[in-house]
Amino acid sequence: MHNYQDILVDEPQSGVLTIRLNRPEAYNALRTQLLKELAEVLDQAADDSNINAVIITGSDTVFAAGADIKEMASLDAVGVMNDPRPTYWRRIALFPKPIVAAVNGFALGGGCELMMHCDIVIAGDNALFGQPEINLGIIPGAGGTQRLIRTIGKSMAMQMVLSGEFISAHQALSFGLVSEVTIPESSLQRATELARKIATKPPIAVRLAKEALLKAYETTLDSGLNLERKSFTLLAATQDRNEGISAFMEKRQPNFTGK
Ligand code: CAA
Repeated sequence: MHNYQDILVDEPQSGVLTIRLNRPEAYNALRTQLLKELAEVLDQAADDSNINAVIITGSDTVFAAGADIKEMASLDAVGVMNDPRPTYWRRIALFPKPIVAAVNGFALGGGCELMMHCDIVIAGDNALFGQPEINLGIIPGAGGTQRLIRTIGKSMAMQMVLSGEFISAHQALSFGLVSEVTIPESSLQRATELARKIATKPPIAVRLAKEALLKAYETTLDSGLNLERKSFTLLAATQDRNEGISAFMEKRQPNFTGK
């Protein structure tokens, strides 16, 4: 793996690649370099058959405090229009394998938005989630207005985006923004356990399941059900489906190969 400036990338283990945001001097603020590195590493992971799931995490005390405000300050409207950041976000959003986030401490602005690009979120009980862009005279710019309202509903999304108030890990759990809360020291361990479990599942089925679930955000029930059925049918042509069903019949563990 490469050396990156703003992220640490572990060697994949048990099918799981762990990416750590690593700008401790700036609360892991997501400057353009960091987003570029994240997009690059995910592009590579998408093509790497040894990687079946990814973890994105920060430190025990901070996930990410948002876009880098100092970098953003120098951009005028034309600069924002020509900014490559939306392309990096798009690449992150299109990553086809599951991403589990382990979030401790601040997940603010772009940090909260990055967390919402992940498929499963395990939060340490010190996590704080917020979209404080309103305090800077701007609004969320990496999907926050759209993904937050689809995830936690209108009233709380409005409250967070309009007031800039943060919510706690337990509030986030009650609104469905995260799926589990642990002590901060255990969030990465639990995320790893889950990612490793997912990495043992048949990769094509995992990929199609992620695609179908995400489709529910943006389509009608009818076309979502249509996609689900087509994917379900397609899976009948995979070796892993035969292996899964045979293993069940033969009362043994399946050995999935991604074919
Ligand atoms: N960008 C750049 N630097 C940041 C940063 C950010 N988003 N957040 C924190 N830092 C830097 C601070 O400037 C400071 O650096 P210096 O010591 O060099 O001054 C260092 O990190 C520590 O920060 P604080 O001294 O402020 O620490 P604190 O503990 O008092 O407060 C905090 C922590 C609540 C996270 C506070 O730093 C804060 O409010 N940060 C900004 C959060 C924010 O507004 N995020 C949204 C950004 S806009 C966005 O994300 C747009 C989008 O949707 C894409």
